[in-house]
Amino acid sequence: MHDQHQEFFDALAAEWDLMFTAEDLERLSHIVDNLGVKKGMDVLDLGCGTGILFDMLRRKVTETGSVTGVDFSYQMAQQAHRNFPFPNVNVVDADATRLPFADSSFDMVVAFSAFPHFSDQQTAINETHRVLKNKGRFFIIHLISSKELNEIHHRIGGAVGHDTIPPEKHLRSMLNSSKFDDISIEDHAGLYLAIAVNSK
Ligand SMILES: C[S@@+](CC[C@H](N)C(=O)[O-])C[C@H]1O[C@@H](n2cnc3c(N)ncnc32)[C@H](O)[C@@H]1O
Repeated sequence: MHDQHQEFFDALAAEWDLMFTAEDLERLSHIVDNLGVKKGMDVLDLGCGTGILFDMLRRKVTETGSVTGVDFSYQMAQQAHRNFPFPNVNVVDADATRLPFADSSFDMVVAFSAFPHFSDQQTAINETHRVLKNKGRFFIIHLISSKELNEIHHRIGGAVGHDTIPPEKHLRSMLNSSKFDDISIEDHAGLYLAIAVNSK
């Protein structure tokens, strides 16, 4: 099914990498340093865009692990593939609500600046749970608070005008109903970080 987000993000793909300042990359790198990514892990980057996280993750999992990016914007996925042509970096043009992976395929799933855009957040969470191994962790990351982010999307309008990080209670309930537990949510100026652990 066509989603108006695909068109929206397709149009931004060529210039997307220019959106990040050196400060953004520094902060992002610091966050990734604290996710517990280890050598040999298989990590899924959901809504990967042009692959801004790939190099940070790739260096941590090393050649014995893998980084897989999923994006349903064909242009974003193509750009990500061009940016990171490494044997252990895979890019898949797919929808977060219908992941083309076997159950328990990944040690970790990261959604950076992407979760609010998923048209069916509960299904995306269910799919994330399905493809994560037992005790695998799911991270939802933004470099701004939910309040800041929801306001920005509202201002932009159009395809993303109603894309929000849900209120904490609602996100917890969606994660719980998908058998995630040990949920923690940090939400303040300059950072949104939700962490949930898969309990099969
Ligand atoms: C704001 S961009 C962030 C991209 C990247 N994570 C970054 O920070 O540079 C959101 C991305 O999520 C992707 N996206 C939105 N809904 C999606 C879905 N249902 N399945 C897969 N990707 C999706 C968009 O195509 C877009 O590339």
